[in-house]
Amino acid sequence: EAIEKGGFDHFMLKEIFEQPRSIADSMRGRVQADSGTMQLGGLRDYLDKLAASERIVIIGCGTSWHAGLVAEYIFEELARIPVEVEYASEFRYRNPIIKEGDIVIAISQSGETADTLAAIELAKSKGATIFGVCNVVGSSIARATDAGAYTHAGPEIGVASTKAFTAQVTVLTLMALAAAKRKGTISESLFRLLLAELESIPAKVEKVLQAADKIKEIAYIFTYARNFIYLGRGLNFPVALEGALKLKEISYIHAEGYPAAEMKHGPIALIDEDMPVVVIATKDSSYEKIVSNIQEVKARKGRVIAITTEGDTHLPSLVDFTIEIPKVHEVLVPLVSVIPLQLLAYDIAVMRGRNVDQPRNLAKSVTVE
Ligand code: AGP
Repeated sequence: EAIEKGGFDHFMLKEIFEQPRSIADSMRGRVQADSGTMQLGGLRDYLDKLAASERIVIIGCGTSWHAGLVAEYIFEELARIPVEVEYASEFRYRNPIIKEGDIVIAISQSGETADTLAAIELAKSKGATIFGVCNVVGSSIARATDAGAYTHAGPEIGVASTKAFTAQVTVLTLMALAAAKRKGTISESLFRLLLAELESIPAKVEKVLQAADKIKEIAYIFTYARNFIYLGRGLNFPVALEGALKLKEISYIHAEGYPAAEMKHGPIALIDEDMPVVVIATKDSSYEKIVSNIQEVKARKGRVIAITTEGDTHLPSLVDFTIEIPKVHEVLVPLVSVIPLQLLAYDIAVMRGRNVDQPRNLAKSVTVE
């Protein structure tokens, strides 16, 4: 087992550090930034159908559901197709409206999640075309879908999903780009820019990983916190949910993720000097808004750990701690902004003496309803 961990203390840490490679692997043979081209072999025959679809329903559970929420923003932004994201575990316990021509995208690392598999069967029976985004080749979900794209992240052993998430987001971004290109809803220059930006992601993730020691110092300060709040806006809102889920599942600290602007509708009542608040405050279209959300938290003495864009000289004076990430195109920011949150959760869990790779009550794949 020590050999399998490749010198890391836990599989989870190894998998976090593998992300520059696993993200690159998820794009291998699919993206040619130099020539401004891309292709997803598994979807070749279904691209017209995807581009013509009036609605996409994305299903998944846990981290895979979070990847779906990120994809919702990207599909709507680039391909202008309305997207709904559903928990697979809820989907079939109501009477979902699925029409002939609807596309359902099922996301699953393991490809064995019982809720997701059952939701696929229901959607199929209503005439939807099902695409899979799975990591495990030949898994039940991969076999149950009409078409799809594997994430190629390599085996994920840690119960807390890390590299599968970034690979899912990468592949879903490629799907959205392919649909946008076919529909003509993306300019050639933005298409090429995003392909080039995608190719630069592994190096940017590598750079964030170099901040591991700084993140560990911050984790040490908050090891015994009883609660955490995670805030983000736009594409960083699902990242806030994912950061909170990581912390919950491996450290057993209660954590909640919220869209930052929802604070004033309730959760702000929780803020006091004992409440750590992780805010993803990267320099993008919602930067000014999130700065004012941070001020609201600071005015109530909350302790803010901000994920900022390199070179931001304003936020360090406003917050308690900052973790910098390189500048990334807004559409791709979750691929980089999630990394410090994975490390923070990991470090806190280790410092609390938790069984990081096999947290209590959890299984790597949930094959029961
Ligand atoms: C994530 O860290 C989880 N342990 C869990 O939420 C997981 O993402 C969920 O059970 C879905 O699994 P799947 O991707 O294998 O379908």
